[in-house]
Amino acid sequence: MTNTSFNVLGIAGSLRKASYSAALLAEIVAMSDDRMRITAFPLHDVPLYNQDLEPTPGQPPSPEPVTRFRKAIGEADGLILVSPEYNYGTSGVLKNALDWASRPGYKSVLLGKPVLIVTNSPGVYGGVRAQEQLRQTLSATLARVVLRAEIAVAGIATKLNGGKLTDESTRGFLKEGLADLAAEIERSRKK
Ligand code: FNR
Repeated sequence: MTNTSFNVLGIAGSLRKASYSAALLAEIVAMSDDRMRITAFPLHDVPLYNQDLEPTPGQPPSPEPVTRFRKAIGEADGLILVSPEYNYGTSGVLKNALDWASRPGYKSVLLGKPVLIVTNSPGVYGGVRAQEQLRQTLSATLARVVLRAEIAVAGIATKLNGGKLTDESTRGFLKEGLADLAAEIERSRKK
């Protein structure tokens, strides 16, 4: 462990006000400490992906929310994705945002970026299939997905009470995930 502090960006893959994913991310943000500052980037303003809107010489820049999103990822030491599961995959909202972040291909702000994946669901599987899909998508971006036991929070509706994560074992598991993300960030800096 060093005294270095990390700047981590958290992204929830749901736009609805009462989203469990957003509430879970807010609880992760609240776990920030001097070593790891975590801030949330809401995806509400990110438009649907359109390759025609990519910056090319003589054309206008990308939509402002996309520029802001890419800049926030570029400046972050690592990412935390908190995804729901929609039809056995991640949400269109999160996949769309990752598509924007992934360009230019193999040279984007995701290249080499340490990423901790957290999925959740009110159901019993905790979004494990969304977890798998995110791993596959991120492999196309050459991001550094944190290799660890998957953080897939099942029964999220009973673990969040009034927006607070009251389940101690989930809190402990998340803290271990944050420590693994910090270790991956350190490893990425040694390269
Ligand atoms: C779902 N839900 C769901 N849950 C799950 O465990 N596996 C799944 O495949 C799906 N599929 C699915 C599709 C669609 C279109 C919806 C709207 C919902 C239920 C989902 O986990 C639940 O609605 C969560 O509350 C959504 O996440 P947020 O918005 O609370 O973060």
